[in-house]
Amino acid sequence: MGFYQVADLNAAQCQFLTDTALKASGVNVDPDKRDFLHLRISRRLKALGLDSFDDYIGILKREPGGPETRHLVEALTTHTTSFFREGHQYEWFEQEGIKRLLTSQPESAGKLTVWSAACSTGVELWSAGMVLMDRQRQAFDLRDFALIGTDISQKILKTAHSATYSTNEITGVSPLRKQRYLMQSKRTFGASDQHYHRVIPELRQKARFEQINLSALGSARPFTVDVAFLRNVLIYFGEEMQKQVLDGVISRLRPGGILFTGHSEAVPKRDDLDTLGPSIYEKV
Ligand SMILES: C[S@@+](CC[C@H](N)C(=O)[O-])C[C@H]1O[C@@H](n2cnc3c(N)ncnc32)[C@H](O)[C@@H]1O
Repeated sequence: MGFYQVADLNAAQCQFLTDTALKASGVNVDPDKRDFLHLRISRRLKALGLDSFDDYIGILKREPGGPETRHLVEALTTHTTSFFREGHQYEWFEQEGIKRLLTSQPESAGKLTVWSAACSTGVELWSAGMVLMDRQRQAFDLRDFALIGTDISQKILKTAHSATYSTNEITGVSPLRKQRYLMQSKRTFGASDQHYHRVIPELRQKARFEQINLSALGSARPFTVDVAFLRNVLIYFGEEMQKQVLDGVISRLRPGGILFTGHSEAVPKRDDLDTLGPSIYEKV
């Protein structure tokens, strides 16, 4: 395969590209990160067979908010995630959180709804689902649960919906949970004989996935949840947008509901949240 030479990216082009992504998604990339922008966006030029950023910008200008804008946002974000990431939050959820949620709203009749607000490949949501299914095996207080996964990326939502992962992607799942909640394909792939592993139908049927742009949450259909995971996505937004997104997510939590954020994402002190643990909050 030949080396694909893409022209330089100048300051005005960087500004246009970052402004376009910001307007479409709230994703706030510093226009001075020219090497980063060049690396990420030149892949789009290659895919489209273009050799100049002006031609690429021409496409974005011809169809404002169109499919290429979605590709641009996709190129500037990452989907890094893993099962049981920041494991102490799941341990807290299992040992304390579920009981707390069920007793703080007895009229919910033992039903909980969990939302993963930037769900990427879905593994954050399936991890919560596994904890909830474990609970149903051990106690009778959790009658039912529903899982909602949302993300801005249609592409990644397809992966989440398929609920199928390679052996490398499921290393965070304990052997017992693998046995209970994942089905292994007979077929192998890759040099290291990886298998595919699919979430069992009983868990899949609890979940629905949909595209929601957190920077335009106000225009998404309304729903209320008991638990919201808002992890490793606030980092993409500027200060004002972070507050707007937090306001929007918290408004969809019922009083007594739990919010999990990423470890690197400090939530400023707010009157509507009590801190229960590191990156664990309760809506007052
Ligand atoms: C690093 S992943 C985090 C995945 C998961 N929450 C976790 O912590 O493991 C960030 C995700 O945020 C999504 N994202 C970025 N901007 C978004 C926006 N404006 N609205 C919704 N999702 C967004 C990306 O598509 C990506 O899947």
